[in-house]
Amino acid sequence: MRNIEFDYSQTAGFVGEDELEAIFPKVAAARRTLVERSGDGNAFLGWLDLPVMPEGLVSDIEKTAAEIRSGADLLVVIGIGGSYLGARAAISALRGAYANELALLGGEGVAVYFSGCDMSSDHLESLLSLMRGRRVFVNVISKSGTTTEPAISLRVIYDAVKAEVGEEEARKRFIATTDKAKGALKTLADREGWRTFVVPDDVGGRFSVLTPVGLLPIAAAGLDVRRILEGARAARENAACDNLRENVACMYAAVRNVLRMKGKGVEILANFEQGLHYFGEWWKQLYGESEGKENKGIYPDSLDFSTDLHSMGQYIQQGERILMETFLNVENSRSSVEIPHWKEDLDGLGYLEGKTLQYVNRTALRGTSEAHRDGGVPNMEFRIPEMNEYYLGWLFYMFEYACGVSGYMLGVNPFNQPGVEAYKRNMFRLLGKPSAK
Ligand code: PA5
Repeated sequence: MRNIEFDYSQTAGFVGEDELEAIFPKVAAARRTLVERSGDGNAFLGWLDLPVMPEGLVSDIEKTAAEIRSGADLLVVIGIGGSYLGARAAISALRGAYANELALLGGEGVAVYFSGCDMSSDHLESLLSLMRGRRVFVNVISKSGTTTEPAISLRVIYDAVKAEVGEEEARKRFIATTDKAKGALKTLADREGWRTFVVPDDVGGRFSVLTPVGLLPIAAAGLDVRRILEGARAARENAACDNLRENVACMYAAVRNVLRMKGKGVEILANFEQGLHYFGEWWKQLYGESEGKENKGIYPDSLDFSTDLHSMGQYIQQGERILMETFLNVENSRSSVEIPHWKEDLDGLGYLEGKTLQYVNRTALRGTSEAHRDGGVPNMEFRIPEMNEYYLGWLFYMFEYACGVSGYMLGVNPFNQPGVEAYKRNMFRLLGKPSAK
């Protein structure tokens, strides 16, 4: 299998080779801090080794996933932040836009829905409507076990499932992924007799996609988790390469940091595949929570092209020149849609007849990349041969590794998130939580 390639040629004029050479020692030092586990947050580096997963755990995940697939029409995954975004990213990237609808309309597979990732009453109520009369399994995921959003969703959904199928049957349909020994969710799961999977102590939420947090829902959706791990292992091998120019994660960290130092404080991760929308959401959490602290950090944003070229494209081309972009370029699509021949050429598309939509999409990427560079937005590109489990695993691991290196280059602890507590403190005080008074 080819490696994913990193192309930064469209940063020419913004990033000089001399500037890259000058930043390499900093990249190398940050990488050493990461792999020697000598920096801040080094108690949370378990993710570095996740691609080499014990066989027993992989087959446990697969066995439980098979049971979910044969027993359920619908799997509800309850979780927020790092406890849901990885699974959602993978399932959206690989299953096709309408997999849930197709499953519910009687096709193959389980429909996978996510809950506990917001506090919208209407969102939860419409999920309850969807659940009614259907065979539902639930995977509740929370490392701490006390996060407000998933905890509320769990209460409501457990009551609904119990009311529908009775307590005994409901117990068989709940699976908790949480701490191995402590926390409210672990206590509840043990008391109710739910099956449990463990979130390792040394892996933070946003780095947990390659643990049962991500892999169980991904496997339940019918995807091949062994291939994801294989791709992650290939990325790990590449990240172990001391020659920085061949090390994709380190080159990415180097280029984005040169751009940051030149005033490009916002990075847009742009895809040309709707299925990668949630990959962008996963990436935003990874970089936003890891780097955005101590008044530092590149602000991560994500967009879906060409859709968003018809909205945000204007700002990118001509707004404030603080942007850099990173494109996810999927070279081959899974399907081939051809532009048909029409006798009359009213829409002027005659010149594209017989061409594939993928060809047009990739040409749009080239045109966008050049236009944005010319407009003052340097851009980088990850060339992904195709979107499958292997390359998704590759991307997950590579972006995590680059994030660790980048965070240490910035001089922050990439593995904590003290800032997310502030809104919670206010909310708890306003809600009258006893311990917050
Ligand atoms: O990255 C993180 O640590 C956070 O985004 C958490 O994953 C998120 O807040 C959910 O936490 P928990 O799994 O404890 O419910």
